[in-house]
Amino acid sequence: MCGITAYRGPSAAASRARAALERLEYRGYDSAGVAARHPDGTRVHLRTLDGVAALAEPVGERAADATTAAIGHTRWATHGGVTESNAHPIEDCGGQLFIVHNGIVENADVLRAHLIAAGHRFASEVDSEVIVHLVEQAHRPGVGLGDALADAVTRLEGTWAVVALDTRTGALAATAHGSPLVFAEGDEGAYFASDVGAITPVVSAFRVLEDDDVVEVSAEGMRWHRAGGSCRPRGLWPVPKTALLSTKGRHRDHMGNEIDEQPLVAQRVVDALAPAITDGLLWRGLGLPPLDEIDRVAIIGCGTSLHAGRAIAGVFSRVGGLPTRALVASEAAHEVWEPRTLVIAISQSGETADVLRALQGLPAEHGTVLALTNNPSSSLARRADAVIDCLAGPEIGVAATKTFVAQVLTGVCVALSGLTVSHRADATLLDADVRALTATPEALSTARDTWRGPAATLAAEFARASGFLFLGRGAGLVYAAEGALKLKELSYRWAEHQPAGELKHGPLALVDAGTPVFIVDDGDPRLEVDIAEVTARGGRVIRLGERILRVGGLPLHLPRTGPSWGPLETVVPLQMFARELALRLHRDVDKPRNLAKSVTVS
Ligand code: F6R
Repeated sequence: MCGITAYRGPSAAASRARAALERLEYRGYDSAGVAARHPDGTRVHLRTLDGVAALAEPVGERAADATTAAIGHTRWATHGGVTESNAHPIEDCGGQLFIVHNGIVENADVLRAHLIAAGHRFASEVDSEVIVHLVEQAHRPGVGLGDALADAVTRLEGTWAVVALDTRTGALAATAHGSPLVFAEGDEGAYFASDVGAITPVVSAFRVLEDDDVVEVSAEGMRWHRAGGSCRPRGLWPVPKTALLSTKGRHRDHMGNEIDEQPLVAQRVVDALAPAITDGLLWRGLGLPPLDEIDRVAIIGCGTSLHAGRAIAGVFSRVGGLPTRALVASEAAHEVWEPRTLVIAISQSGETADVLRALQGLPAEHGTVLALTNNPSSSLARRADAVIDCLAGPEIGVAATKTFVAQVLTGVCVALSGLTVSHRADATLLDADVRALTATPEALSTARDTWRGPAATLAAEFARASGFLFLGRGAGLVYAAEGALKLKELSYRWAEHQPAGELKHGPLALVDAGTPVFIVDDGDPRLEVDIAEVTARGGRVIRLGERILRVGGLPLHLPRTGPSWGPLETVVPLQMFARELALRLHRDVDKPRNLAKSVTVS
């Protein structure tokens, strides 16, 4: 949450920091701001509640912008309301030092009291403001900006990625602790950003700050150091090839295009990984221990990534008979961990604080951690024993769509690969799953093309519905859950998912004339009874995933024998319906209210 950028170079610093910020707006959009320095030492300080685009004109794009150092911020509010005075960059008492911060300062109240007692005047309600006053205090004559920042953060508890700007000298200093920050040098200057996606058009490689690294960029050049002495700059990561592929295609929003791209993404994953399933090649290539030496699998994630984990869990348990649990990362602290556990941590951003915190709680002898992420240079990837990139490419819409499909298929390939060399595997199921995998891109594409019109028609029909039910059984349940989550986050309407068998134990009371009830059909014949119970109460059933044969004009439902990860293609109409309904209700589908794409607070 919150995105930060910074640039130092010959000119147009504010424009460059702002342009990079535009690519980080998915991290929060409550407010945005830029602070910059003109060569004569005068400052620019702009803040807005109207989004990063609203800064373009006042910043004065490129030619008119002579600034040489700048920092930028896009905010997802935690402490303090959504107001201009709470927007970053935040200035010190003298109006010459500025900071941008991503993270949470847990001891901000205590520090604020100390600083006020020492004569500092506060102008906002945000926890981050203590940082600029601490830097101001430490930035005495003879102490460089980097050392002052390093000194200031020794007083903090919590998490931070911070960039400070001294408008008198144009120096930038940055540090991180539990929040992501990258540094890159392009032909025309040096950049910092929360995520390399912000600067992919202008750099070809980047470095990731490890916890407590301090990087200073000033007239003297770049200095990379840590408390207690200097250290070498961290290794270079190439900018991923897929990082530049982000368009809206034929849609008004990124999400529409990201839904459409799913067959292509699925094909990319299948082409890259399916050939290595055989003989455990993929599994071994990741350096994972043989499945026969593992007693159980625990999959950790949040939100949509957790749903992907549940789908993948089906492969380990159904094909391999291996005890597998999918755990809500924010609750994993209460888990009892056993040895010989393979932990799979799933996160598209690789920066989700709940997931990182769950891994911190693992006992030393727990076993191996595999990270499944769309960001192979992320904190999660760097923490794990093995990493697999789900190859979704950049996903700009805050609601996860193509990363979900990519995560499911990547995890499925890994699981199947491990099972090919395991005594536990059911060979018939394994064969059927491998065949189903190669048919998946086509199934996703058919679902997309079939549901385009009907999704819009259903959205019109349910525009006034106040609540929605999503039901499934077995392997279908996870897609019902994902459908309900998409609907909630995009339309702001109440949606609940339930195992269909639970309906009669309570949720059936919600069903009234016209109540929309989505059923994800995984072929379980008992769904017919669940459907009958809903229709008897006047509920409006929308059934997905069914196999129908028309005999003499009458529909005959055929048993569905799907793969062990369930009817993945049913997620496509559910995503399309949620988007269509949200557009009809005039919601911003790329930026749902109150949410952010990278949830770096726990
Ligand atoms: C839902 C959504 C969230 C994320 C969750 C985890 O559309 O996007 O539920 O799935 O915040 O995020 P990552 O995958 O980055 O760990």
